[in-house]
Amino acid sequence: PLILGLAAVLGYLLGSVPFGIVITRALGLGDLRQIGSGNIGATNVLRTGNKPAALATLILDSGKGAAAVLIARAVAPEDAVQLAGFAAFLGHCFPVWLRFQGGKGVATYIGTLLALFWPLGLACCATWAVTAALLRYSSLSALVAAALSPVWAVLLGREETVVLCILLALLIFIRHRTNISRLIAGQEPKIGKK
Ligand code: G3P
Repeated sequence: PLILGLAAVLGYLLGSVPFGIVITRALGLGDLRQIGSGNIGATNVLRTGNKPAALATLILDSGKGAAAVLIARAVAPEDAVQLAGFAAFLGHCFPVWLRFQGGKGVATYIGTLLALFWPLGLACCATWAVTAALLRYSSLSALVAAALSPVWAVLLGREETVVLCILLALLIFIRHRTNISRLIAGQEPKIGKK
């Protein structure tokens, strides 16, 4: 129980670092909360027009999920490893530093899956990328990738991650409520558009 608790706290604290906010503030790109969707993720950082800042946010927000998993794996049993990744995702979505008003978790989810079992992470990245290339919506690509992640887990023979994938997919759908409404209304901006 102690090691599970430590893994959860470590994951949460790592996940709660809002790199989108940190980077846009450091570069003087304005208040991310007042730009585009108001979200703290890489998609919204891209709406500042600064591509390297968006890429850095994507890498660091993914990296914190991966770091939580890899650190836990180095010191703890496998159930604590999944918990650390899940906690990092929750940390990103509900960071104490932003009064629990965080992001939508997509980059952190990808990083977590890549570190847990890289073929699964890669399959989800590819699903996101193909959907984005075809339809140009970041949110829809994330929803498709999240929905298919449990399927990929089964197809790739990683049944032990199916429950985690389902949980993460449910949370990603909940975090994208406003995006889903905009998609249905035909008002969701395409990637890079305000
Ligand atoms: O990763 C978040 C993305 O799926 C949607 O972001 O800013 O368009 O709400 P945004």
